[in-house]
Amino acid sequence: MSGEEAPTLQPEQEKKLDDPPLDASQAPQESGSSPAAEEKPLSFRSLVLTGYGGYDKVKLQVKTQKQPQLEAGEVLVHVKACGLNFAELLGRQGLYELLPAPPVTMGMEGSGVIEAVGEDVKDRKVGDRVIVLSRSGMWQEMVVVSANLTFPMPEQMSFEEGAAIPVNYLTAYMMLFEMANVRPGKSVLIHMAAGGVGFAVTQLCQTVPDVTVFGTASAPKHETIAQGGVTHPIDYRTKDYVEEIRKISPKGVDIVLDPLGGSDTQKGFSLLKPLGTLIVFGAANCVTGQKKNLLAMAKTWYNQLSLNTLKLMQSNKAVCGFHLGYITDEQLISRTMFKLLELYGQGKIKPRIDSCYHFEEVTDAFRRMHERQNIGKIILLPEAKKEEEKPKSSPEPIENVEKTEAAVNDKKEETTEEVKAED
Ligand SMILES: NC(=O)c1ccc[n+]([C@@H]2O[C@H](COP(=O)([O-])OP(=O)(O)OC[C@H]3O[C@@H](n4cnc5c(N)ncnc54)[C@H](OP(=O)(O)O)[C@@H]3O)[C@@H](O)[C@H]2O)c1
Repeated sequence: MSGEEAPTLQPEQEKKLDDPPLDASQAPQESGSSPAAEEKPLSFRSLVLTGYGGYDKVKLQVKTQKQPQLEAGEVLVHVKACGLNFAELLGRQGLYELLPAPPVTMGMEGSGVIEAVGEDVKDRKVGDRVIVLSRSGMWQEMVVVSANLTFPMPEQMSFEEGAAIPVNYLTAYMMLFEMANVRPGKSVLIHMAAGGVGFAVTQLCQTVPDVTVFGTASAPKHETIAQGGVTHPIDYRTKDYVEEIRKISPKGVDIVLDPLGGSDTQKGFSLLKPLGTLIVFGAANCVTGQKKNLLAMAKTWYNQLSLNTLKLMQSNKAVCGFHLGYITDEQLISRTMFKLLELYGQGKIKPRIDSCYHFEEVTDAFRRMHERQNIGKIILLPEAKKEEEKPKSSPEPIENVEKTEAAVNDKKEETTEEVKAED
């Protein structure tokens, strides 16, 4: 999901953000009332997309402002961990339509501790550990969000796990159980099987008896995804995955989950058994590196599946699209999140964390996903990296952050300071 962001506070702004509930991504709004609150300004670290392009466009800033004043239904969360999603690779390149124009703070999910609650919030309290879903704005230390989009974390769940659940698992669950209606004995093809959504799909398939999972991924990841439940890992880089699947299952598969787009959607459609379901939920083929690639976009667009309804009828197949960002039904999201938390409690799902990066290492996090190295979820940590944690051979910081300083004064109520990030 994605949506509104937490722009820099302007002195004249009485209300910081007035987003609809799902656009829960808010930087804290200033308080004007409590003298105690005014005494101590709030400083928090935030990753800001300053323009479209490569890694250097995401800058770490420290924002300072007055203490937030919560409106009804809102909570203030101290964020401990956030998820990196493929959508943020697209967003950085200007290819994610739900993300507002820069400067904008990305981040659609996180976990943390509630620091304050709005007056009518009854079911959340200060100190609660919560998972947060948002349209954007989660890549910062402090956020004001709608309490409705916070979910209590089970005791045994780490902050990293909590941040890894919402986007990947809601997407996987809704596609498998709401759209494709996966049932015992069915077969599923998932691309990017070693990624965040891939692991979520694989784990959820295992909650249904006798489901066969075909998963495409780079070869070095096969052992891990097979251990995770992928029945047939396929190296799409060296083999034709359509041929490989046909060798194992000549009739094809019942469900294809397609996050790639372009010619892969056509292949997916061709692989469907009669009464099978194809769900298109991404366009990763548009991304070839850190910068926008117009040729890859044109190729993906040109090769996309094109059907007329008569042909579709005669094929006895279903073609669906899924995009979590366009699901505005908070009750549906909430119901599904609670089902997922139940499954977590039963030990049936558990996010696989690939790696964790502090905010100053965001470039490394992006690079890991762009270079297709991750096996599972990449997590960002708002907390500053301690000196001793820094790798001995830490490379020189690249020029992706410059330092600007501004003093807090009566006229400007929020200040922003960019800090050095690591390469
Ligand atoms: N519609 C929705 O609501 C929704 C929600 C969440 C995610 N998605 C989509 O689901 C897909 C997976 O998302 P995710 O966040 O879980 O990411 P992810 O799977 O962790 O993505 C990274 C992995 O995908 C593979 N990959 C394939 N093509 C790639 C490319 N062009 N660039 C980089 N990596 C590529 C690589 O693994 P291998 O080398 O093993 O292939 C890489 O390690 C994305 O297409 C995303 O847009 C859609």
